Amino acid sequence: MGFNIAIDGPAGAGKSTIAKKIAGKLGFIYVDTGAMYRAIGLYLLRAGVPYDDAQAVEDAIREIQISIAYQNGEQQVLLNGENVSAQIRTEEVGNMASKTSQYPAVRVKLLELQRQLAASADVLMDGRDIGTCILPNADLKIYLTADPRVRAKRRYLELTEKGISCNIEEIEKDIIERDLRDTTREVAPLKKAEDAVEVDTSHLTIEEVVDTITAMVQSRRG
Ligand code: DC
Repeated sequence: MGFNIAIDGPAGAGKSTIAKKIAGKLGFIYVDTGAMYRAIGLYLLRAGVPYDDAQAVEDAIREIQISIAYQNGEQQVLLNGENVSAQIRTEEVGNMASKTSQYPAVRVKLLELQRQLAASADVLMDGRDIGTCILPNADLKIYLTADPRVRAKRRYLELTEKGISCNIEEIEKDIIERDLRDTTREVAPLKKAEDAVEVDTSHLTIEEVVDTITAMVQSRRG
């Protein structure tokens, strides 16, 4: 059993950027569970399955095989053997993932894969329910948050840097809607685990957050 770090929090709080840096510094394997939900979302979009048809989603899930590989230390997500790591990064896929991750059949599909990955090595896993549900015995749990306005601004800068034109008000509205869906769903909603340390990144730089969490890991590892 390796050392397990769980990082949960809402969309845009900086989880993946920060998690990747900490994992690199400490030599941990980074597992991005959102990418797995996104791969399922992509499959459902491609197959034209409506997100609100629970039965159709459940049926489609049986046709899906998700696996993970690492290329130069970067996680790749495979959907029925196809590497879809680039295709899952759109807002459309993120929203579909958020809408369909409420279904128990979707969550059960990914639970074992996530637990197996954590059992095999020193792992830093990020998502929504890692500290509360997937790894309740994680050695360190972090709940990463930031103001919706700050998160929208970060997302806006990220997209415009990539040359994608977007509207900051729309992004903020989207973020607030996604937070509401992710925190109010019945199964494994996003919430801070009782024993998680909350880190608000609104007014911190990436390096400050990385250093704070790295210090926590080092003190718990002794
Ligand atoms: O972190 P992300 O934006 O890539 O995640 C996309 C969606 O997937 C998110 O809005 C909710 C869902 N998700 C989840 O339900 N549980 C997780 N552990 C990770 C993501």
